[in-house]
Amino acid sequence: MRKKIAAGNWKMNLDLTQAQTLISELTQMINDEYSGSAEVVLAPPFPFLYPAHHLLKNHSRFHLAAQNIYTKESGAYTGECSAQMIQSVGASHCIIGHSERRQYFGESHDQLLAKIRLCLRFGIYPIYCVGETLSARESGKTFEVIQQQTEQVLFLLTEDEVRKIIVAYEPVWAIGTGKTATPQQAQEVHAFIRRIISEKYGASVADETSILYGGSVTASSAPELFSQPDIDGGLVGGASLKSREFAEIVKALP
Ligand code: 13P
Repeated sequence: MRKKIAAGNWKMNLDLTQAQTLISELTQMINDEYSGSAEVVLAPPFPFLYPAHHLLKNHSRFHLAAQNIYTKESGAYTGECSAQMIQSVGASHCIIGHSERRQYFGESHDQLLAKIRLCLRFGIYPIYCVGETLSARESGKTFEVIQQQTEQVLFLLTEDEVRKIIVAYEPVWAIGTGKTATPQQAQEVHAFIRRIISEKYGASVADETSILYGGSVTASSAPELFSQPDIDGGLVGGASLKSREFAEIVKALP
């Protein structure tokens, strides 16, 4: 059975005190109110990973993700963080290829592939993001874009490597806009991603791959999204910064 996952991408928000408060509130609410099987993955900014690791280490449901790493293992790359660094401060997951990184930092498929390979070398589960822009959707190119983003990165990995990847479908037009994809729109793309993974690596790999939806997920939209057969959870931005809201999103998973 593939894993159900609620992941919170905090992006570049909060200070240390706010981050600690959010984690304390979340662990309490989720421990008290949720008895399902989902994993909760929190992706705070780099400076909060280590303090977050200390707050989360006795809560086995919770896992820690970085939001990015650099494409090189180590060296003279001022301002960057490596896979080994994030692993050494407690991260078990890393978001790779978020549309904000593709858009604002011009990250290429080659770079994303290098980052995924470094994650895997250090035992970190990559959360690989794909998603079309509004203009791609409006011109009927959604599946073409998703296929390219999948073929040019994921499909260059071995079957064993792909088994460690979590995919996140995040339509760019739904990120931070309050405009959630309908459950049907999201399901259609998730089913497509699972089908092309199945065609390339076989049904058992595809069945085991968790595919998360991201883009304006809220406590009210989560239940219907998460009830779709190919949606295995969410990658949540804004709503993951509010403990009550995010706890309700987690509780929408079985
Ligand atoms: P929002 O939930 O704020 O739309 O952000 C989604 C996202 O980008 C998660 O990675």
